[in-house]
Amino acid sequence: ASAQTDIEIDRDAPIGTIQPEVYGQFLEHLGTQVYDGIWVGEDSDIPNTDGIRDDVYGALDRLDIPVIRWPGGCYADMYHWRDGIGAPEERTPRVNMSWGGTPEPNGFGTHEFFNLAEKLGAKTYLNVNLGTGTITEASDWLEYITATGESALAQERRANGRDEPWTIDYLSIGNETWGCGGNMRPAYYADLYAQWATLLKVEGEMPVRIISGSHEGNMDYSDEILDHPAMGDLGDGISVHFYTLPTGDWGKKGDALGFPEDEWMSTLSHTIKMDTIIEDKLAIIDSHDLGEDFHLYVDEWGMWVDGEEGAPALNQQNTIRDAVVAALNLNIFHKYADRVPMTNIAQMVNVLQAMILTDGPEMILTPTYHVYEMYVPFQGATALPVDFDSPDYSHGGETIPAVSLSAAIAENGDILIAVVNADASKAHEIALPAFGADSASVRQLTGASMDAHNSFDDPEAVSPVEMDVSATRGKLRMTLEPRSVSVMRIAQ
Ligand code: AHR
Repeated sequence: ASAQTDIEIDRDAPIGTIQPEVYGQFLEHLGTQVYDGIWVGEDSDIPNTDGIRDDVYGALDRLDIPVIRWPGGCYADMYHWRDGIGAPEERTPRVNMSWGGTPEPNGFGTHEFFNLAEKLGAKTYLNVNLGTGTITEASDWLEYITATGESALAQERRANGRDEPWTIDYLSIGNETWGCGGNMRPAYYADLYAQWATLLKVEGEMPVRIISGSHEGNMDYSDEILDHPAMGDLGDGISVHFYTLPTGDWGKKGDALGFPEDEWMSTLSHTIKMDTIIEDKLAIIDSHDLGEDFHLYVDEWGMWVDGEEGAPALNQQNTIRDAVVAALNLNIFHKYADRVPMTNIAQMVNVLQAMILTDGPEMILTPTYHVYEMYVPFQGATALPVDFDSPDYSHGGETIPAVSLSAAIAENGDILIAVVNADASKAHEIALPAFGADSASVRQLTGASMDAHNSFDDPEAVSPVEMDVSATRGKLRMTLEPRSVSVMRIAQ
């Protein structure tokens, strides 16, 4: 182990509240996420409640999911809500043209999504179809979901089994309009956005309206959208999408398993670019006159690797590398607690950097799931500034900080510390202020190798272990295992 790293935490200069929605999820109709992963239908042999798998629901419930984005992604621009309402035999089967032409039975639709979110206590984030839909279709959808009284659409909703309206908490008009959403020029999208945002209404409180922005490589796109003079009035924020590719190359992204240390390093050095992407994007927002409440939403992010031959679309294994990626990003988001109120990792089940993988009736929790579960106390906590000199982690001519650390005051006053050791092979020691405590409890997640993962044969190979750390001379000293994520709670 290297010399001890001294950490300073400033309890008296809080950065802001970490909105629970920073821990948001993304549920797109894609691969085996919705069908098989979440929804099996009432007649399935897999234990379910109203068609939703009981095992998957139980695991999701333990994550205190604050918000779910649905139904896409690229698929949102193909989705027609009327296909997915009514009695099971009335649903319109379609083909998922966005993702490999797989069958889309539409058994999971508006009622199933809003009921799932309601049961999980999650807010709802709806992405309307700007691509192949019309403003009338979107407007009817919002009325169907939120109307009360005699509205014919409210009556139709009631006839389909739901008396009370639901709430749409967040609304995006368009998705990746620079690409799969229509390859639009920014000024054209800005005009369309302004038109739709002006005319789309809900009964009750307006959702937070999110303008679909750029990815990390086309930041000017957002800049030009925001030049539209009505964006500050018609939008509450703009999104950015950023995926972590091990090789940085969309043509050959790299494998989920069996990768060399070069790709461990390139993955982590790529993922921490999130920090400058947020900074650059905030600078673009600040260069326009949009008001203080205009925020940045990272509504797609996470690991994207090459899938295995013949696997369902965007299905990938998830290793301790994914756990480290998740925690590095969450620590970055905490730093921007006052400006980034929501992020949505891509995606929830069986797709990209998933929380859960299923195979028929079986289910495993991924290392990323464990990070989200360990970090639950950070939802609603108050982020604190930290100061330290990280030891370096160097490999193959690249160097990144080995240690990433975030601190916060939990809702009950306890101090929370989340710390990552990104070093592939070396332990590091840190010394933290004890805040008057004699000891602290820690949960640590690590893996026996760089690609350690859970499998259906060995579902708990990567799971958190619990330990206590004692204070000596006012400091909590702890060893960070290589490739590890730890969350400490200092009771106050
Ligand atoms: O998350 C998978 C896809 O990535 C989404 O559908 C799209 O918005 C992005 O390109």
